[in-house]
Amino acid sequence: MTRRYQAIVPSNIAFLKYWGKADESHQWPANDSLSMTLDGLKTTTLAVKDTALTDHAVTLNGQKVTREDRRGLKIFRHLDHLATICDCAVKLAINTHNSFPTGSGIASSASGLGALTIAALAAWTESSNLDALQKNGYSRERLAQLSRQGSGSAGRSLFGGIVVWEKSSAPESQSIYPLYPQEHWPLCDVIVLFSEEEKAVSSTQAHRAAWTSPLFEPRLAGLKERRRLMEAALQARDMWRLGPLLEQEALEMHGVIMSAQPSVHYFGTETGHFLRLIREIREEEGLPVYFTIDAGPNVHLILEEKYLEKLQKILQLRCPQRQLLIDRMGPGPHLSVEA
Ligand code: PMV
Repeated sequence: MTRRYQAIVPSNIAFLKYWGKADESHQWPANDSLSMTLDGLKTTTLAVKDTALTDHAVTLNGQKVTREDRRGLKIFRHLDHLATICDCAVKLAINTHNSFPTGSGIASSASGLGALTIAALAAWTESSNLDALQKNGYSRERLAQLSRQGSGSAGRSLFGGIVVWEKSSAPESQSIYPLYPQEHWPLCDVIVLFSEEEKAVSSTQAHRAAWTSPLFEPRLAGLKERRRLMEAALQARDMWRLGPLLEQEALEMHGVIMSAQPSVHYFGTETGHFLRLIREIREEEGLPVYFTIDAGPNVHLILEEKYLEKLQKILQLRCPQRQLLIDRMGPGPHLSVEA
């Protein structure tokens, strides 16, 4: 009987950005990060054991990917790593699908590598849900650690709500854990699309370049305090306090990367004008809506769910041509099996 293991893992949006690696070979970040796990923006991955295969067969959004492809490289490398860890030689047929445009700055690597980790390990250990996977030796914390080895931000997608990835004092002691569950504060993420194209500079290259920026060391020095302030604002559910920290953090990350060598610009003038518009809307309407931007040109607007309708109406009037993806804080991953 062929059993198909289906993992669904949401994307996440970083409030405090993971930017730069202290040790690339151990995927040890230069700083702590904090994110909100999303709900509808997700990757669904099916894994099936197939003894007839001589190598893994991977399909991404309906297209076959090979070891040689730019996207295939990360996927196959991670599958090889997971196979060694669980000591499984049987090859897998992997079919993966994103609910959003891949490579557009909506962290497809976070949900993608997270879903790959869960689906592959579930197939190899024949675990039909997350509890069974835990009984077979893969707790959520372990799955998060394995996922971040595939792509750093993926570790945080293994939990719902608000999630912290702590650097700690050594690569072996870093930890990933949920800070607040989804119910703590109903927050939304309205993603304003400026480009659906794949980014020209991968985040791996940009993480390396960060160290060449004169702004990087001062950034690292200030992050402990920013994290403290962000956590206090989250605890108090106070968007007027959280929001300015979100914007400062995003602009600082982009400042680092723009002043690095080579200089990387993830967003252009259209995005820049839009950021100004958001500040205008906030002031004119008294609406607590703030932006953050990951490694791409698209803008994430963070706001409380009760203001969503009002924001949608305003955006419809002021920039009707813009495509929006609307999402909210979600509960985290799901694993199931089909016979
Ligand atoms: O996981 P990576 O290597 O693709 O890095 C992602 C980094 C950001 O998305 C820009 C920030 C973050 O913390 O998610």
